[in-house]
Amino acid sequence: MAKLQTPPRVKKVMKHMRVPDLRAMKERGEKIAVWTAYDFTMARILDRAGIDVILVGDSLGMVVLGYDTTLPVTLDMMIHHTRAVSRGAKRALIIADMPFLTFQLSVEEAMRNAGRLIQQGGAAAVKIEGGRQIVETAKRLVDIGIPVMGHLGLTPQSVHQLGGFRPQGRDSDAADRLMQDAEILEKSGVFAIVLESIPADLAGRVTASLKIPTIGIGAGTQCDGQVLVSYDALGLSDAAPPFAKQYAQLGEQILSAARAYIEDVRAGGPHR
Ligand code: KIV
Repeated sequence: MAKLQTPPRVKKVMKHMRVPDLRAMKERGEKIAVWTAYDFTMARILDRAGIDVILVGDSLGMVVLGYDTTLPVTLDMMIHHTRAVSRGAKRALIIADMPFLTFQLSVEEAMRNAGRLIQQGGAAAVKIEGGRQIVETAKRLVDIGIPVMGHLGLTPQSVHQLGGFRPQGRDSDAADRLMQDAEILEKSGVFAIVLESIPADLAGRVTASLKIPTIGIGAGTQCDGQVLVSYDALGLSDAAPPFAKQYAQLGEQILSAARAYIEDVRAGGPHR
């Protein structure tokens, strides 16, 4: 008897990354690869490469829109860009950042705004910055079926309170507090936590004590996964943080391509 083949469409559906897959990856000891994207084309390329998660980060404000911080980013901007990313990614899990003041004012507002990122943006989950102070919000979002990713350490929406984009968790009090925040967040039901700019040994301890995955950025190699801002990783940013490894120099390539084009035009071309 001929062996039944899984139709290609079903195969594709089976491979789609879902929220519980991340925890299963941690349990299997498989590392989780995350990059940010903000538009259809980049999402399509990252998806083809096999990225596990695309984060539509509010770093959008800095790397795409040219602001000095993430604070001017609005919910409408995030929905607009998340929708574009959703159209480009077929396999990757899409997580959208909740921007400044869209989840801190009241739990009801957070629920409405998170709902818009899911319903209108097409995200599968949202990310919110903060520790114990956002636990009630995280719980309620999870209760109504919206998966939540946490974000501890350097939380860019608190840049003014932190006195700049500085590493966090460096003394023992700060490290203890961060460890407690991570445990409280896990209990509240978040499915993963981003650990940004904290010492590698602290990130290692948090990772070992949680069942949910940690995703590091500038937090050493012991996290369950790593995230980078794609513009930093691709050499498109002028101010990439020192820990961000560059996997391509697209800024340089675009510069020489544009110069070559300008020369062609001035010489009477391009000839095709
Ligand atoms: O906004 C963002 O891109 C982020 C990552 C740096 C984790 O929050």
